[in-house]
Amino acid sequence: MAEKKTYYITTPIYYPSDNLHIGHSYTTTACDSLARYKRLQGYDVMYLTGTDEHGQKIQDKAAAAGKTPKQYVDDIVNNNVKPLWKRLNIRYDRFIRTTDDYHVEAIQKIFKELYDKGDIYKGKYEGWYCKPCETFWTESQLVDGKCPDCGRDVYKASEEAYFFRLSNYADKLLKYYEDHPDFIQPEARKNEMIAFINQGLQDLCVSRTTVKWGIPVDFDPDHTVYVWVDALFNYCTALGYKNSEYNDYDRYWPRDLHMVGKEILRFHTIIWPALLMAMDVPIPKRVFGHGWLLINGGKMSKSVGNVVDPFVLCDRYGVDAVRYYLLREVPFGNDGSFTNESLISRINADLANDLGNLVSRTVAMIDKYFGGQLPADREYDPLDNDLKELCEGLRDKCDRFMDSLSIPQALAEIFKIAQRANKYIDETAPWTLAKDEAKKARLATVLYNLVESLRFVTALLVAYLPETAPKIAAQLGYTEDDLKYENLDRFGYKKDVKVTKGEVIFPRIDVAKELAELEKQDAEKKARALRAAKAKEEAEKKAAEEEDAGIISIDEFRKIRLIVAEIRDSVEVENSRKLLDNTIFDGKRERHILSGIREWYSPEDMKGKKVIIVDNLAPRKMAGKLSEGMLVAGEGEDGSAKVIFLGDEFKPGMKLR
Ligand code: MSP
Repeated sequence: MAEKKTYYITTPIYYPSDNLHIGHSYTTTACDSLARYKRLQGYDVMYLTGTDEHGQKIQDKAAAAGKTPKQYVDDIVNNNVKPLWKRLNIRYDRFIRTTDDYHVEAIQKIFKELYDKGDIYKGKYEGWYCKPCETFWTESQLVDGKCPDCGRDVYKASEEAYFFRLSNYADKLLKYYEDHPDFIQPEARKNEMIAFINQGLQDLCVSRTTVKWGIPVDFDPDHTVYVWVDALFNYCTALGYKNSEYNDYDRYWPRDLHMVGKEILRFHTIIWPALLMAMDVPIPKRVFGHGWLLINGGKMSKSVGNVVDPFVLCDRYGVDAVRYYLLREVPFGNDGSFTNESLISRINADLANDLGNLVSRTVAMIDKYFGGQLPADREYDPLDNDLKELCEGLRDKCDRFMDSLSIPQALAEIFKIAQRANKYIDETAPWTLAKDEAKKARLATVLYNLVESLRFVTALLVAYLPETAPKIAAQLGYTEDDLKYENLDRFGYKKDVKVTKGEVIFPRIDVAKELAELEKQDAEKKARALRAAKAKEEAEKKAAEEEDAGIISIDEFRKIRLIVAEIRDSVEVENSRKLLDNTIFDGKRERHILSGIREWYSPEDMKGKKVIIVDNLAPRKMAGKLSEGMLVAGEGEDGSAKVIFLGDEFKPGMKLR
């Protein structure tokens, strides 16, 4: 038997978030339909998705949640990310987490190899860092002093770091684009990438000493690998590249498609191929940068507060309605706006009217006129040809549209059949044929043609509406064979027709009622948010009042580090009548603390004594000398200082609380 052709398709790996929204679902759903379509065509498909789990952002969020970073990402992956893909019927073949041991091990090997080859070298980084995007920017890349990607504040950062010689790859990348015109899609985005390279590529900083939650550079453990290098290689490591967890690399690499949002196209078409060239790994065939799903004209994000929850939408309208909307509404590649109105009108016009109606009418008529089973007699009419030809041409059209990632057009072709079949019902008027016993064979043929048309529709809808297709199949009695891709080459393949009445596939939604309900829910949500904001404001006000009254929280108190120190020496400070310069030992090192106690204590009074010091006071200069810390003293009634001296049971460095 000939070996199956393989197809390897990937989504970006997602930042773990408890707030994945309908925009994130867009990429996975699109890839899922492409993967399902390829499976239908008989390909051996590997559909990879996963999570991108390292970096400062995660570390901060974990700390805020009182968890270790690993606990934090485990919880989100298990309770949010995977359940969402399950809810959306995303049938991935593999799920990679960048904290998986095999990935970590592979990244360390890759980093070392690049270093040994000289493609990575050690230097010093100075630039502007955007924490949310985990990206360093040069001054000229900033837009109005802010991050050019997300528009947020950046801060100046300088650190010893490893660099990848990206600058060496500018010409090679341009040449690659020229030789592989399909590599970057859509075309317009390719020009943006070429313009970016032509501005001049700088070497890329690929390690951090400040970010602890990352893959350690094993030969220099103060450094962690830059998250994007760690993340991009997931596409290879998930197949077993540089690790022994999997053994699929030779089978699937370097095909076929990386699907990414447009804002991360630069990482995938400049940095990624350059890294692959450096590792002598073949470059993927195609990277497609799709547009964003917008809401109220802006990209969805939690901070903007306009996130649309896919769980809520699936519960309200059904998973396939949501999938259909995502796949059909926006020309793939462009930005498009999510609105409740457009979602409901898609459900009503396409799913309820065109498809749902056709299924119900077909089943109902076969049931009514033939008790659910069509007789074998046929009587054809030239009127049938149009529908027949449309069906026989469907598969090729869909193949072409899916290959060019024109997913909405492919769906439009499928729905054209449903529309044509509905029109065919009007043209043939089965209810009139039913009145004439002599037209029984013609009536059976008309209904057969409807069942047969729906076979083409159902077989291909498996790729887009995986929950609905089996429901239609059950009502119309399609067998597995009926729905096979190879059996979509001819109209008339299905022989016996026996139908079973079932539930309405997509009930119509009363638009006015639904929008009013949504508005009510929205108003309630806003009222809740307002109440929460008020409560927060009041709590903050109370905290501020307490602060005014000098009250501090236990957390604030814990910030002050009080420890025991021994005074090893003490001298009077020149040019000062108040200060003594005490050399203290804090259990680890000697340092100087200047105190304004000379009026009441001589250097001799101080030498050899144990005292309490504030260990973590910011150093400051006094009378030209640096003072690191503060001695704790009481204040007598006359304003004199009373240093607290401790007994011998107190050792230098001992913490006080
Ligand atoms: N972790 C990186 C990708 C690393 S890949 C080696 C990342 N993660 S993400 O969670 O922020 O985004 C994942 C995908 O969701 C991206 O392709 C992004 O474009 C997509 N989307 C996020 N919001 C979106 C919309 N509102 N609309 C469409 N897609 C959007 O980037």
